[in-house]
Amino acid sequence: MNDKQINNVILGIETSCDETSASVAMGNTVLTNVIATQEVHKNFGGVVPELASRQHQKNIIPVVNEAIRKSGLSKNQIQAVAFTRGPGLPGSLMVGVSFAKSLALALGVPLVEVNHMQAHVLSLFIASPPNPLSKGEGEQHPSFPYLCLTVSGGHTQIVQVKDYLDMEVIGETLDDAAGEAFDKAAKIMNLPYPGGPLIDKYAREGNLKRFSFPEPQIPGLDFSFSGLKTAFLYFVREQSKTDKDFVEKNKNDLCASIQETIVNILVKKLQKASEQTGIKEIAIAGGVSANSGLRNAVNEAAKKLGWNIYIPPLRYCTDNAAMIAVAGYYKFLKNDFAPQTAAPMARMSF
Ligand code: KG4
Ligand code: ZN
Repeated sequence: MNDKQINNVILGIETSCDETSASVAMGNTVLTNVIATQEVHKNFGGVVPELASRQHQKNIIPVVNEAIRKSGLSKNQIQAVAFTRGPGLPGSLMVGVSFAKSLALALGVPLVEVNHMQAHVLSLFIASPPNPLSKGEGEQHPSFPYLCLTVSGGHTQIVQVKDYLDMEVIGETLDDAAGEAFDKAAKIMNLPYPGGPLIDKYAREGNLKRFSFPEPQIPGLDFSFSGLKTAFLYFVREQSKTDKDFVEKNKNDLCASIQETIVNILVKKLQKASEQTGIKEIAIAGGVSANSGLRNAVNEAAKKLGWNIYIPPLRYCTDNAAMIAVAGYYKFLKNDFAPQTAAPMARMSF
């Protein structure tokens, strides 16, 4: 590749929760996406903020170096540094924000701040370099306007996306996020953190109609998951009084049934949002969009309701810097730069 073809090179940095990640993208084509997942939280039932920021400090330099090295470009070819400003854990965000600011200063390139939740919404536009093995992937992007159900460990939102940087939250959770509902149900069953992927795994072998749990009746497009968590806790506690091995004996069916309930709540609201807005371009994004039950359910709904469905490849569902680099690219095109004084924002809306 000659120098003329090397344009719009963005380095993305993500440290909002428990993944330290860096990515080099050229436009919306992702060249590298390096992720160091922190294993230290496994036995704590959730992310321990202090441990997370210490791990980010350890990981950030090797992760960024590897992302640049593997891209085949040199650091002098980077044209902007995009970073997650929020929302997220303050101590974790601080590591990425400070690192991004120092690097941009050292390289003499602009800084671009990215909202992590907007980046999940824009993960639908990540393209891969031409490669016969990944043929077709990243080729199918939604057209505007589309609806994105963003489901992660900290947020659950339905977003109406009018353009890359023009989007509006039209429904969200009033309490726990969908990912939290998975993780808390897993904790009740004594599964390690993060429990979502394990529930997905055991659910494949289970009977989803075996147990039923209450679905909340929340008006409009908002969600609530805290009642479901409590109902699940009381049910498991009650059953375990008469049989202490209840969870172990019924793990697959419990996982299938709780997953089915969470998925139903999500898909019903998505359907309502589509009816209300008349939009049939539908996407899902965020960690929980990796869930096979949710992926199947939206595909089924699509057949029935005539939706066009867009789901990111698995590696771009959970936290990653590729989506930060690509979201950064769209802001870079608009010269939407951040000052060196930009500070982390634990709560950050759009
Ligand atoms: O987007 P993400 O990586 O981080 C946040 O921004 O929060 O989402 C993490 C969440 C966790 O709650 C995790 O349990 C959940 O996504 N998750 C899943 C699956 N993979 C990740 N939940 C259900 N099924 C999965 N396969
Ligand atoms: Zn996320």
